[in-house]
Amino acid sequence: MSPIFVALDTQDVHRAAAIARDVSGVAAGVKVGLEFFCANGAEGVLRIAEHETPVFLDLKLHDIPNTVEKAVHALARLEPAILTVHAAGGRAMMRAAKAAAPARTKVVAVTVLTSLDRDDLAGIGVRSSPATQVDRLAGLAREAGLDGIVCSGAEVRQAHGKWPHGFFVVPGVRPRGAEVGDQKRVVTPSQAVADGASVLVIGRPITGASDPRRAIMDIAASLAQTPAQARTEK
Ligand code: C5P
Repeated sequence: MSPIFVALDTQDVHRAAAIARDVSGVAAGVKVGLEFFCANGAEGVLRIAEHETPVFLDLKLHDIPNTVEKAVHALARLEPAILTVHAAGGRAMMRAAKAAAPARTKVVAVTVLTSLDRDDLAGIGVRSSPATQVDRLAGLAREAGLDGIVCSGAEVRQAHGKWPHGFFVVPGVRPRGAEVGDQKRVVTPSQAVADGASVLVIGRPITGASDPRRAIMDIAASLAQTPAQARTEK
């Protein structure tokens, strides 16, 4: 099984379910975000899960601890493989999310959105650089008992060094030669895994391929040559 979660950035439940069926057994699972969830709700997620494909719910929850706890309870019947919350919600909120999640769900923190730069952070009263803030929030997520964080390929090596048993979700991954699209800084799948990624989030290079299943198998083959150092079970 490859460590790839396929990003289904669509509102179309039929298309999402078709890709989930296609990649079942070769991908670690599929990722749906707020767009899909707002359009299709929990029932849409269940339609995808029918194909026995683990689901990564990228909902980036962020609210007071009690509300997040109740929201996670409400999502528990979907048994997500991975669920995201914002580390900026604080330690108590992250603890509440982890406590309410099913035992097998990895609860991971989003630190600083990659759409925010130093000026944006200053605008919301954060004086540190994005890198320092990512570091601080990753430490907080760890203290709160979360499983890991979402981070870019550029950050995963350092993050993994500081949190060797953390679970690191890395988007912005492109097989060699693939279209970069709107991603600015990309890493190859084997680089990300060698640097400590636990799972890779890859969307368009797979969903836009004429044969998504084949695309995953090709990426998995390129990973087979990756040094084992970072490929330990996390
Ligand atoms: O199609 P592509 O491989 O670029 O999709 C990447 C997925 O990862 C999308 O769902 C995108 O929202 C998500 N993501 C990202 N960069 C981040 C965080 C999440 O590309 N920093």
